[in-house]
Amino acid sequence: MILLDLGAPHSQAVARRIRQLQVFCEVLPADAPAARVLAAGPRAVVLCGEPAGGEGPGTLRVDDGLLSAGIPLLAIGSGMALLAAQLGGRVRPAPERADRPTVLHVRDAQDLFRGLDAGQPGPLECRIAGGAVEAVPPGFQVLASTAEGAVAAMADRGRRVYAVQCHPEAVDTSWGSGLLRNFLFDISGCRGDWTVASFIDHAVAAVRQAVGQGRAICALSGGVDSAVAATLVHRAIGEQLVCIFVDHGLLRQGEAQQVVESFRRLGLPLVAVDARERFLQRLAGVADPERKRKIIGEEFIRVFEEEARRLGDVRYLVQGTVYSDVIESGTGQAGLIKSHHNVGGLPERMQLQLVEPLRWLFKDEVRRVGLALGLSEDLVWRHPFPGPGLAIRVTGPVTAEKLDAARAADFIVVDEIRRAGLSGQVWQAFAVLTDTRSVGVAGDQRTYGHVVAVRAVTSTDAMTADWVRLPYDVLDRIAKRILREVPLVSRVVYDISPKPPATIEWE
Ligand code: XMP
Repeated sequence: MILLDLGAPHSQAVARRIRQLQVFCEVLPADAPAARVLAAGPRAVVLCGEPAGGEGPGTLRVDDGLLSAGIPLLAIGSGMALLAAQLGGRVRPAPERADRPTVLHVRDAQDLFRGLDAGQPGPLECRIAGGAVEAVPPGFQVLASTAEGAVAAMADRGRRVYAVQCHPEAVDTSWGSGLLRNFLFDISGCRGDWTVASFIDHAVAAVRQAVGQGRAICALSGGVDSAVAATLVHRAIGEQLVCIFVDHGLLRQGEAQQVVESFRRLGLPLVAVDARERFLQRLAGVADPERKRKIIGEEFIRVFEEEARRLGDVRYLVQGTVYSDVIESGTGQAGLIKSHHNVGGLPERMQLQLVEPLRWLFKDEVRRVGLALGLSEDLVWRHPFPGPGLAIRVTGPVTAEKLDAARAADFIVVDEIRRAGLSGQVWQAFAVLTDTRSVGVAGDQRTYGHVVAVRAVTSTDAMTADWVRLPYDVLDRIAKRILREVPLVSRVVYDISPKPPATIEWE
């Protein structure tokens, strides 16, 4: 499946829902040329998202070549009005409120709506998005209408083009997954055989084919993504892979040692490089978050290249890049949010070719692949940790002293959450050493230390997140320990921002 993304968070929810139905789904920008979409050999195409400029003339268009390719296409939500406008239907612009509740009256239940009202107590409830389609384009017929009589779903069966104005992926659209099933399995002939095991088989075969007899190195960060990528590639090419672990001095307490021990135990060939001094020098005096990320990304690659040269003829670099990194770095329709060190931060003239076997997987899928490959639960459920590490959890210029403080505070946050038995309910928890100073008092002395922000969030895929309602006594223990044990700090605050609009990390 190819999902054409008009530019909104909806698309990822739809892609995930489709994958849950065991159909592989890749996201491309909505105006991707037909040739690019068709080259991927999709069984069907879904169009969804919120077009930034509305649905009027001159806004995003789907390549006409796709509409006549004979491949089933389903437009969802605002995608329906956009498609109707493009194909010559009459569309009234959307009212202020984006998603409006309504009930659907099904007029034609031949295929897309087949069997959906079975087990439903009343009419099909949903929320609709986008402008009102007052007249369907030539060749289309109405499949369902809203309580107000507007078109809510339409089809041109000759061209195999369908559209529904609500969001079948929304949790409150109880019949939505039935509609997606009808589209994927009955209309498009998808088989629903995309499983973790089939993913592993395909990925192993693809890596073998891409790398051939060449040698590869893998960047191990200690996180789940690179561990899964390394294990997968090791399964594909065995001893042709050497893993390289760079200690950039931006890791959590005790982490470097743990990483080396656990990968040696897994039997993966591993070279550990101490590059702490080198990173600190490059980061000296740099306060801008994007510059920090770029510097760290570049320095990483330089270290790898040096190690690769030492190893002899190495041509490939394996990375644990996951789908949210790819999308957030601006490859999809969503603009660049921040350059992840392993995608947008790469230097332009890189001498190694990238192998990214997890590029199409969401985090929870990566974890399932990890478990299927035999990685330990500990490793698989480890909280995510950003590649640029503590450098982006110390605001302002990075110094060894600030890093030590951030590391100590971070350890306390994670330790107290673990002691309270709450680790399983937390996606990620950490401390940020801010550059904001605040007045405090120690004995009869005035102090002027840093403010530490504590962050704990829940999430399923890092695309959205909410702050964890940690019990007051846990917060109290965290704050008291940080203030007692971490010398630079005079104040502790708790970050209660959801994502969006905030991100999980501070930089
Ligand atoms: P944000 O801050 O964008 O983070 O809400 C989403 C998730 O991604 C992690 N993160 C990174 N991971 N390289 C990584 O490997 C990076 O540059 C990076 N930046 C953020 C973050 O910890 C969270 O889990």
